[in-house]
Amino acid sequence: MKIDVLTLFPVMFEPIMSASMMWKARDRGLLDFRVHDIRDYALDKHRQVDDAPYGGGGGMILKPDVLVRAIESIRPTADTPVVLMSPQGRLLTHRVAQELSRRPHLVLVCGHYEGVDERVRNLAISDEISIGDYVLTGGELAALVVIDAAVRLIPGVLGAEDAQERDSHAQGLLEGPHYTRPAEFRGLGVPDVLTSGHHAEVERWRRQQALKRTWRQRPDLLAQADLSDDDKAYLAQLMDEAGD
Ligand code: ADE
Repeated sequence: MKIDVLTLFPVMFEPIMSASMMWKARDRGLLDFRVHDIRDYALDKHRQVDDAPYGGGGGMILKPDVLVRAIESIRPTADTPVVLMSPQGRLLTHRVAQELSRRPHLVLVCGHYEGVDERVRNLAISDEISIGDYVLTGGELAALVVIDAAVRLIPGVLGAEDAQERDSHAQGLLEGPHYTRPAEFRGLGVPDVLTSGHHAEVERWRRQQALKRTWRQRPDLLAQADLSDDDKAYLAQLMDEAGD
């Protein structure tokens, strides 16, 4: 997969993209990552990238000529998503990350200041993604979140392929609790089932714990989750117990 990022702050990317899994993905040749400085496409002598909004009001707007020139320099094909990071975009979810991870090429455009000239959207942007209902000072951190969430799903990036199928959100549920040694820590033990050696019982327990945690922390997710009759019976039992 190839990812091109357009930003006014290229230095924000290298530390994150040179560590941990993102570095492994690059090192293994699974990710070709490039950062481009939008300012390099400002042709006037002050290298101006922003200007005051027509109609007045506060804030500065990224200039359309500079940003479109920067995007066009990457020469995205007609089916390469050119994604604007913005709080007005569609929300990033596991599903969106999966969809992006299957693309051979992504262009991520980091907005700054009050936003981008609307004509950039009209001419050069094909998708717009938000990482949550809050406003960041720029799209860089959001782009890094999108990159991390998508790249870790590329086959071969994570060691154990099956672990990601159990990730929170992968099945529409949150993950349940995990334990490792020691068997007792500050008076707290480990659930017996995990040391019982009964594989089927362990799986059943994990499923129930995922259901319980989702029901407690994110009940909104249950409406979309793929639930078996056993799952529904277990949830009904939880609700009964809570009602007592
Ligand atoms: N830029 C500013 N805020 C943002 C957000 N919530 N998501 C994506 N990009 C942004």
